[in-house]
Formats: sequence, structure tokens, C-alpha cells
Amino acid sequence: MTHLVELQHPLAKHHLSILRDATTPPWLFRQQVHRLATLLAFAATEDLPVRRKLVTTPLTTTDGYELSSRIALVPILRAGLGLVDPLQSLLPDAEVWHLGMYRDEVTSRPVEYYCKLPAEDPCDVGFVLDPMLATGGSLLSAIEALIRWGCPDIRVMSVIASQPGVDRLKREYPQVRLFVCSVDAELNDRNFIVPGLGDAGDRIFNTR
Ligand code: PRP
Repeated sequence: MTHLVELQHPLAKHHLSILRDATTPPWLFRQQVHRLATLLAFAATEDLPVRRKLVTTPLTTTDGYELSSRIALVPILRAGLGLVDPLQSLLPDAEVWHLGMYRDEVTSRPVEYYCKLPAEDPCDVGFVLDPMLATGGSLLSAIEALIRWGCPDIRVMSVIASQPGVDRLKREYPQVRLFVCSVDAELNDRNFIVPGLGDAGDRIFNTR
């Protein structure tokens, strides 16, 4: 099992470059997040189990398939909301459980303000959605919530991750699989990813 998948597809490289560009306006930024989330979804779902289901076409009956897992999408507010629509479009039966978290500007530590994940009856596969993995604090908090729920298969979709964040995730939760468009080398002194794309939440919601 591969811990980290970094997309090498030309479409990912093309659309990520537009996303990074400081002159990209919020409406286009949202579209790019949507496009990249779709590409990430293909990679992150390629081994989901299916079961056979006969399908009757207008001409005959033939073998068909349906997804056999109970799937949860877990966006980290706010910026994770940008990935929900494309994932719901591909996984229309998925449950969506929001996690409210922001990073304290002084300490860079995550502050949780909303979590309604149930205490029992966990999903089979949980996809954590957040375009940015910087120090990893927010993501680790989200993973802890999914583990408390009992989710046995946790996967993360992030547009950009920092190398220190990737290393921390691998160290603390080696069983969690991470799907990204790019791993950027550094965090700056304010724990922003460099080269990065700025603040994804602000760029999605035009609150800069
Ligand atoms: C950003 C981002 C992640 C987090 C990453 O959210 O969307 O959730 O920071 O940083 P970390 O890996 O160091 O925890 P932010 O706190 O800006 O909140 P927002 O999505 O509401 O803008």
C-alpha cells in the first residue's frame, strides 16, 4: 500500500499552476479546486470494492457493478468545502460529516469549533478533504476524530501538502493514505506552505 500518491498527470500539473497563480481570481480558483479534486478522486477511489449487480439494458441483461462500501466525506471547514461538490458528484451516496477547525494565527495549532461525527456505527471508508496540509495539525485532529468514530480506512485528499506535514502524517499515522497534487518543500516562519498558493480558504471565499 502506498502511503503517498502525488499526481503526475499533465492535467494536474496544468490546473495546479493556475491555482497557484496569485492573479487567479476567486471564481477561477474555485473551478480549479473542483477540477483538481476530481483528479484526486480518481486516484483515491481506484481500489474501492464493488459488487456485481445485474443490469437490464434496453436490449438485454448484463453484468453490472455497484460500490459496496459505506463512504464518508469529511471536509475540514472552511477550505475543505471546495472539494465536496466534485466528490459528491462522483460518490452521490456518500455521507458528509463536516469538521470545523481553524489554525490559530499565533500558535499554528488547530482549534476545533464543530464536530458532529457520531460515536458509533462508523463508515467503511472516510475521505478527509482539505486543500492544504501545512504543519499537519488540523489533519491530525481530523484523523483522531475519525479513529474515535471507528473508521477503519482513512484517506486524505489535499491539493498541496508541505514536506514537513507529509513526514509528520507518515510518522504519526502510517496507515493513513494521502493523495495530493503536489508536495511543496517548505513552510515559512508563519507556517505557510512555500511555494504554495496562499490561503486556500480566503481565496475560495474571497475574504482576503
Ligand atoms: C488552513 C487549511 C487547513 C489548515 C492547514 O485552514 O485549509 O485546514 O489551515 O494548516 P495546518 O496543516 O498547519 O493545520 P485555516 O486555518 O486557514 O482555516 P479556513 O479553512 O477556515 O480558512
